[in-house]
Amino acid sequence: MLQDFPLFPDQATRHAGQVDALYFYLCGVTAFFTVLIFLLLIVFAIRYRRRPGDVVTPALHANYTLEIIWSVIPLVISMTMFFWGAKVYFAQVAIPRDAMEVFVVGKQWMWKVQHMDGRREINELHVPVGRSVKLTMASEDVIHSFYVPAFRVKQDVLPGRYSTLWFKADRPGTYHLFCAEYCGNKHSGMIGSVYAMLPVPYEQWLSGEAPGETPAEMGRKMFERLGCATCHSGTSGARGPNLEGLFGRPVMLRTGQTAVADEAYLRESILNPMAKVLSGYEPVMPTYRGQINEEGLMQLIAYIRSIGPPEPAQSPAGHPTAPAPAQPGRSKS
Ligand code: CUA
Repeated sequence: MLQDFPLFPDQATRHAGQVDALYFYLCGVTAFFTVLIFLLLIVFAIRYRRRPGDVVTPALHANYTLEIIWSVIPLVISMTMFFWGAKVYFAQVAIPRDAMEVFVVGKQWMWKVQHMDGRREINELHVPVGRSVKLTMASEDVIHSFYVPAFRVKQDVLPGRYSTLWFKADRPGTYHLFCAEYCGNKHSGMIGSVYAMLPVPYEQWLSGEAPGETPAEMGRKMFERLGCATCHSGTSGARGPNLEGLFGRPVMLRTGQTAVADEAYLRESILNPMAKVLSGYEPVMPTYRGQINEEGLMQLIAYIRSIGPPEPAQSPAGHPTAPAPAQPGRSKS
């Protein structure tokens, strides 16, 4: 009977089992003390009720042993909650290096998904079972939240910045995808499905439809169309830094600080170029705010990334890139 009325969503990831175990522990501790307190309340009310003869209660003095006991026990219990919770949380926040990358843009009222091989989906996400998947997400308008109950993952998707989420489905199936942040009058319709597929069906899905252009290819075209190469030509004396081998590296800024040229840094540098100018360059780059939408930004970044240093298991074409200089552009060979 309970199968028709599930109290819990499927556990389709290992993380889901860990979250549930912690949740049941919290519920168990709470229920135990609730029952204990109510039982003692009733027992004491009966046992120490007022009896005929006006018995005077003897004066009670501090009992340090008792005080220490009832301080230490809650401390130990709350610390197990803290450390257990932190362990589950950190395991969910640390993204595995070999994760497959997928871009997601939330907009009123749909989820637009873009795979690295060029496949695009709307309100659907096909992933292989047993493979870590990292989502880089942005919103085109208001705050949305990407929520897959069966994976026990939920992450706000914010306008103006990237947020990330990862999961590794280990049970094939079709799972609900919800928007978990009220985002306007069709918020409830911003739903979809995540398909966790076994290797063979996944390969079939991959070979089913011809993928479109990859995000990196579209980004390269945009790079040309916007004339980025005029300044980012890669030659010595160019007005802008050489972008080859830039991605993921620490860079020196004009202010003397350092930053890592990751997705967030590149996004900011395209929209707000004055914010973090590289050392040795003039703040002359115009903003591209309003000219590129979130999907375009992701494509542009995918292109810059594709000419960056090769990454393990992620680099699409395996670019034979020499180790890039710490300060790109100045020491171009
Ligand atoms: Cu998007 Cu609610």
